[in-house]
Amino acid sequence: MVSYKELGLVNTREMFAKAVKGGYAIPAFNFNTMEQMQAIVQAAVETKSPVIMQVSKGARNYANATILRYMAQGAVEYAKELGCANPQIVLHLDHGDTFELCKDCIDMGFSSVMIDGSSLPYEENIALAKKVVDYAHKYDVTVEAELGVLAGVEDEVSSAVSHYTKPEEVIDFSQRSGCDSLAISIGTSHGAYKFTPAQCTRDPKTGKLVPPPLAFNILHEIEKKLPGFPIVLHGSSSVPQEEVDTINKYGGKLPDAVGIPEEQLREAAKSAVCKINIDSDSRLAMTAAIRKYLAENPSHFDPRQYLKPARENMKKMYIHKIVNVLGSNNKL
Ligand code: G3H
Ligand code: 13P
Ligand code: ZN
Repeated sequence: MVSYKELGLVNTREMFAKAVKGGYAIPAFNFNTMEQMQAIVQAAVETKSPVIMQVSKGARNYANATILRYMAQGAVEYAKELGCANPQIVLHLDHGDTFELCKDCIDMGFSSVMIDGSSLPYEENIALAKKVVDYAHKYDVTVEAELGVLAGVEDEVSSAVSHYTKPEEVIDFSQRSGCDSLAISIGTSHGAYKFTPAQCTRDPKTGKLVPPPLAFNILHEIEKKLPGFPIVLHGSSSVPQEEVDTINKYGGKLPDAVGIPEEQLREAAKSAVCKINIDSDSRLAMTAAIRKYLAENPSHFDPRQYLKPARENMKKMYIHKIVNVLGSNNKL
């Protein structure tokens, strides 16, 4: 058993309380690679932001669970080396789907876990979340649960339809599960194709797709039912058009990719939404930079040559999100 406290990590409790009160959101960035980890830490240190580094089941399968855990420990030391005396870094399991997976992560040094029982019947979702909470709280690990189902398809996380969270269920769910934060469904979804063209309108000037707005009415109803309770938004990448255009210009094929407009995330961050999950934007930033570099330098084959601009592009994106969208800069 390794306690996250020995690794210099923190749980989400205090971070979320401050974020809800302060009207900003903590960035939750997924990582699988060293370059993502370095870019996240550099961005968090330079902006003086707390940060959640999250690992999905797919990431653990790809990179190896032990390696990722040591990378998070390395992230804390790296942040200190970059001049941040007291970094606030959470190592979080994203979309844990079983008690055993959550327990494994808690036992190996995660400071926060998500138990995603959102596709289960209501009572089973509560029972599973409560089982994880009972174990996690013994070790002061915080737990995110989810109520409502996001649309979209992405590797380990898939659902064909979106069922918005029912505000009338949130009090009962949070009280009986004992969760520390609640992920809700208000129209976001995973991946780079969050809406079909049929769900969008087209900007007559640019021809680009304009997605339907998030269900802020549901968010506000939930806030009224659970004043001050930490709310989480998954599927919150904006799918920046310039990255999509670069990818398509240099041989990629991402027609009609569409994300959540940043002004809507900015609005959500000012509310009880205190954790905003971003993964796809990092994938797009990395892929765009690599495609461009390799197209412009066809004779290069040292991964450091193309991973360096990829890391820089991700860092730029992380800083932009922290400063211009979530508002978590200078909150350490
Ligand atoms: O919410 C899902 C995250 O983007 C993780 O995706 O399962 O492909 O690692 P993944
Ligand atoms: P995106 O696919 O919008 O980046 O969402 C990531 C996410 O919700 C991770 O849990
Ligand atoms: Zn998610």
